[in-house]
Amino acid sequence: MVVHTLRSIGGYVGAVAGAPARVITPARPRPRPRPCRDYDQTLRTLSQASVEKYFNAFKDVEWDAPEMAVEDDDERWILPALDLLGAHPWYRSLPRARQIEVGRHRLTAMVKTGSQFEQLLLLGGTQFLMGVDNGDPEFRYFMHELTEETHHIQMFQEFTNRVCPDVAGAPGWLMRAIPLVGHLGSLYPALFFAIILAGEEPIDHVQKDYLRTGTDGHPLMTRIMAIHIAEEARHIGFAHAWLEEHAPRLNPVSRLALGVLTPLAMRLGADAIIIPSRADRELMGMPDEVVREVWGAGPGAAAFRRHLFADVRMLFDDLGLRTPLTTWSWRLLGVDGRPARFRAEPAPAAA
Ligand SMILES: [Fe+2]
Ligand SMILES: [Fe+2]
Repeated sequence: MVVHTLRSIGGYVGAVAGAPARVITPARPRPRPRPCRDYDQTLRTLSQASVEKYFNAFKDVEWDAPEMAVEDDDERWILPALDLLGAHPWYRSLPRARQIEVGRHRLTAMVKTGSQFEQLLLLGGTQFLMGVDNGDPEFRYFMHELTEETHHIQMFQEFTNRVCPDVAGAPGWLMRAIPLVGHLGSLYPALFFAIILAGEEPIDHVQKDYLRTGTDGHPLMTRIMAIHIAEEARHIGFAHAWLEEHAPRLNPVSRLALGVLTPLAMRLGADAIIIPSRADRELMGMPDEVVREVWGAGPGAAAFRRHLFADVRMLFDDLGLRTPLTTWSWRLLGVDGRPARFRAEPAPAAA
């Protein structure tokens, strides 16, 4: 009776959200094998890649090596000019010691927020997997992905502990929303996979930009970024493939809701990761007007947000989800612009 009632509530919430509710039911055997399809083959390839190439947070990072030591006067923590804060006159005019202190805090705040986002992914991911049928290759691959995320969380938390343990991390609204968003993994998986992209794309872009420009960063920073980029390529590829496979079969209301809500998820996800939370801004001693100038309505911040989601615009164009009924949402939320011509197209051409 209780289970039945809970299922009814889940179905009701999903219907209100305009989505086909994916109520968690016991896994069951497939009646007959599925024909071999491209999508299944993609999942098998991704699963095999996860078996052959993976990282362990405490084996693949030399945390205690002398070159990894975290020193207070290490200028490699100074933010590079590619960071919007790093390029701002307020930051550039700080004494060297303060630039190091603020740089360490800012970089660690992004790492910590990234780990909190990945905990959200675990929460929604396990909800999603409990409804996947026996024999479905989605289960194996996505469980590999969640396993990898546990190592990313360990790696990011260890980095935080060593580099700047005072960091607060994600803004309060995101921390309060995490339990609710986790339920989307079963109630509205299409939006959940869009939210995965809303968190993974900004982190991936920031890390690639940092490494591509040859920034002389601290080796702990560059090592965890290199590991993360290597595994995120699979994760982002799976989120794209999942949406390509399932979005065309959503009902029209669900498709419309996905087209309108995804830009909201993108904007909220990007801002949560890129802009330090109020608690971290206070710890860094950053004036509010600097926050407005760096990440407000200025052209630098707007171009940066557009750049983050060029790949998602390409995907949603391909899926027919950016239409005259939904593009207003992308414009309103500042994540519109030209779609990428191919995955991971460099910024200037894609923005
Ligand atoms: Fe990750
Ligand atoms: Fe990931």
